[in-house]
Amino acid sequence: MCGIVGAVSTKEKILPILLDGLYALEYRGYDSAGVSYFKDKKIKIIKAKGKVKHLEDKINSEEKTTIGIAHTRWATHGEANTVNAHPHQVKHITLVHNGIIENFLELKEMLEKEGYTFKSKTDTEVAGALLDYYYQTTKDIDETIKKFMSKAVGSYAILFLLDNDDTSIYVLKKESPMIIGLGQHLNLIASDIQAILKYTNTYYLVGDLEYAKVKANEITFYNKDGNEITKDVKTYQEQGDELGKGSYKHYMLKEIEEQKDTVYKTIKKYINKGINSLLELPDLTKYKEINIVACGTAMHAGLIAKYLFQEFTNTRCHVYLASEYRYQNNFFSKNTLTIFISQSGETADTLAALKLVNANNLDSLGIINVKESSIARGVQKVLYLETGKEIAVASTKAYTAQVALLSLLVLSHGYRKKLLSKEEVEDILAEFNNVSTYIKQVLLAKDKYQSIAKEISQEENAFYIGRGLDYYISMEGSLKLKEISYIHSEALAAGELKHGTISLIRKGTPVIACATDKKINSKTVSNLEEVLARGAKVYLLTDDITITNDSFTIVRVPFTSSFLKAIIAVIPLQLIAYYTADLRGTDIDKPKNLAKSVTVE
Ligand code: AGP
Repeated sequence: MCGIVGAVSTKEKILPILLDGLYALEYRGYDSAGVSYFKDKKIKIIKAKGKVKHLEDKINSEEKTTIGIAHTRWATHGEANTVNAHPHQVKHITLVHNGIIENFLELKEMLEKEGYTFKSKTDTEVAGALLDYYYQTTKDIDETIKKFMSKAVGSYAILFLLDNDDTSIYVLKKESPMIIGLGQHLNLIASDIQAILKYTNTYYLVGDLEYAKVKANEITFYNKDGNEITKDVKTYQEQGDELGKGSYKHYMLKEIEEQKDTVYKTIKKYINKGINSLLELPDLTKYKEINIVACGTAMHAGLIAKYLFQEFTNTRCHVYLASEYRYQNNFFSKNTLTIFISQSGETADTLAALKLVNANNLDSLGIINVKESSIARGVQKVLYLETGKEIAVASTKAYTAQVALLSLLVLSHGYRKKLLSKEEVEDILAEFNNVSTYIKQVLLAKDKYQSIAKEISQEENAFYIGRGLDYYISMEGSLKLKEISYIHSEALAAGELKHGTISLIRKGTPVIACATDKKINSKTVSNLEEVLARGAKVYLLTDDITITNDSFTIVRVPFTSSFLKAIIAVIPLQLIAYYTADLRGTDIDKPKNLAKSVTVE
């Protein structure tokens, strides 16, 4: 999604810094980019549709300037073109913006009556006009910002330049992340730490409804009433992604491979001293119910946890899509723990759901990858994944690490509730200690995944089926396939097929089943026979050696306890999706229309 970077320095070489920032933000997904800066007291704006490279080609990065703002835009209001790309300039104000101004139509109407006209379709240009209107009527920048903050509804992280002040960048924030980094003779502003890590790892966080004035040697923070506030400097500990994708064709493939290390790295401190270390995980026994709130792949990890919580700890667990949770009537209860799962820690809907939980004073726990992200900061307690940065838009190593951490949480809960014995827990911990070996084993069968991908890549529809845990694993496999290969794909509870979707099965339709639960595998196999009889091409992923069938293409995975099944079984599905997309020649790491960090609702 949209990314922001700004820089102001005592030295005259800002443009390469802004471009570095934009390149570092590329992984988030975007469709146009732009920059604006002061050159001899005048503001210059350069924009390009498509990649940051297209923008770079239009810029003379040697040009001397000490102050500038830049943006990558993921289209919300208006198509991706240079008119809608940021920065926007409205008279005295030149701005870039992340988020959505929800009352922009009403504001636009009001501003049109005041004589403003608009070139773009964006809410950002309206925000610029509103700032300009208040600036022209008050002639005071603090009054301008305060009035803007009380009038604009929605979310925003805004940087703007004022045409008569070539020393300051103005920063406004509400519900969209924004940080200010401290470099050498240089202050940087960004929506995402990645944009500035090349220059600094020390930064301030801008809070909601706060604003700041950033000069080369001075940063001043204010609350919404215009009173000056002080802030603590924070330090980001993780290194930037210096290795790049190495010899891998795509980050996604690299990240799939990395799972042989990242799962173990995430859980090792909870397993290396047996049950004692497991019990360092939060004690959930005081809760009657667990709610899990997340989006996309993170929600799928939540479904695995729900299955395990209910099956092994007799604890009721609900999983909610954050985008639904935030608007539904929730029955908030003190006996409930709400777990928020998010790789980025910035997903707008998940963050909004967290605010709701916090407003009701309920306990919360985060399972997050990006340290110090908004969700990580907002939850009462956070458990971090140790996967390192996930660059590919399609989440892989974050999912398996999320599932692993959640599984251990279930295991500790079952043990504390005396529903799992010491011996049972120790056996499962021994499996987790071997998780890298299991993962390496499934990674080996690449030829098999490639030959399946070759067949699927010819099709425009695919169906994934499973029962229980396998249904939830199928959901993740299906999402992976559709998001990167653009093949339409659906996951179904196997028993649901004949209640409608089976009408879509015809000769050659791929049906990919997961069957890793001995109790119900035979039922899924019967469903496969039904689609086979209607011409489907059938693929079966199973750890059950008793299943054989010459009409199915069978992918065998090692047998484990239920706690590891999702981690092991999803990897072949990730690779099948990857190879299918590769054969179709899609932009695998940055699939069209998608963003790594979904910071608008
Ligand atoms: C995963 O492959 C997706 N691109 C997407 O569903 C993602 O999992 C979702 O947007 C949630 O993101 P988060 O984990 O950063 O909150």
